Amino acid sequence: MTEYMHNPTVDVLLDRRSIRAFQQEPIDPQILTTIEAAAQHAASSQYLNDWSAIRILDHTLKQQIAEVGHQPYIADAAALYVFVLDEYRNAVIARNSGVAVDSDDFTLNNSYRFSQAQNDAVLALHAMETAAESLGLGCVILGSILNDVPRLIELMKLPEYTYPVLGLAIGKPAQQPNLKPRLPRSVQFFDNAYNSDPELMLQRMSEFNEEVHQYYDLRDAAHPVPTYDAQIAQKAVDQGVLERGLGHARAQGFDIER
Ligand SMILES: Cc1cc2nc3c(=O)[nH]c(=O)nc-3n(C[C@H](O)[C@H](O)[C@H](O)COP(=O)(O)O)c2cc1C
Repeated sequence: MTEYMHNPTVDVLLDRRSIRAFQQEPIDPQILTTIEAAAQHAASSQYLNDWSAIRILDHTLKQQIAEVGHQPYIADAAALYVFVLDEYRNAVIARNSGVAVDSDDFTLNNSYRFSQAQNDAVLALHAMETAAESLGLGCVILGSILNDVPRLIELMKLPEYTYPVLGLAIGKPAQQPNLKPRLPRSVQFFDNAYNSDPELMLQRMSEFNEEVHQYYDLRDAAHPVPTYDAQIAQKAVDQGVLERGLGHARAQGFDIER
């Protein structure tokens, strides 16, 4: 068993797990201010600061978003943040500085900026998650809010050149799930170059498969968790993802072919 080094930061990261049941208690406003500052201190590619977050404390709105995500626990979180990639603010600034934002000269809406802004948003969200956990809160990251992007855009009143990235539900934990197993280090970290030998890879994965199978997921306690390879094989042919493309991004003013 590897001995890790420990300090409070490392311990928060090593102890991280998704929380999907929350106590019905509001979060201290000072905590919210603190975790928002942590998010703002994340790195930003080219200092474009091209993300924003919508904070939702209103129960009705949380409920509406829980319906978009088909995940009732979203409504139970004390605070919900929807992180959006945001070139709208930069477009306003650029237009004010004389840039013809509505012409082909404008490039903040191209696919490169889209993924760059998405990276920034994810880094900020993760900083917020870590800060919240270090202050005793539990979180779950939410891709499910993208189940119905047009509805989310409508609920959040997102202007052009913005696009939802992920949600983060935060609250005092009402459950303590077991840590979910992680891949063996040997299949996820390589020294100097990628080792693509499939035999070796599968051999190193075998124990892990069983470990995942034994994992007890509070989300669906009635059903055993399938082995890791069964999960991956199923997701590898999931036709649903083909429909979840970036089509809605065009409606938000992004020129994702560029
Ligand atoms: C991008 C992203 C999207 C996710 N979306 C959801 C979600 O919509 N609902 C949910 O319950 N968990 C969601 N999760 C949490 C993952 O299911 C979870 O991180 C993973 O199963 C590992 O478990 P752990 O976080 O407890 O270690 C998401 C995680 C990530 C990184």
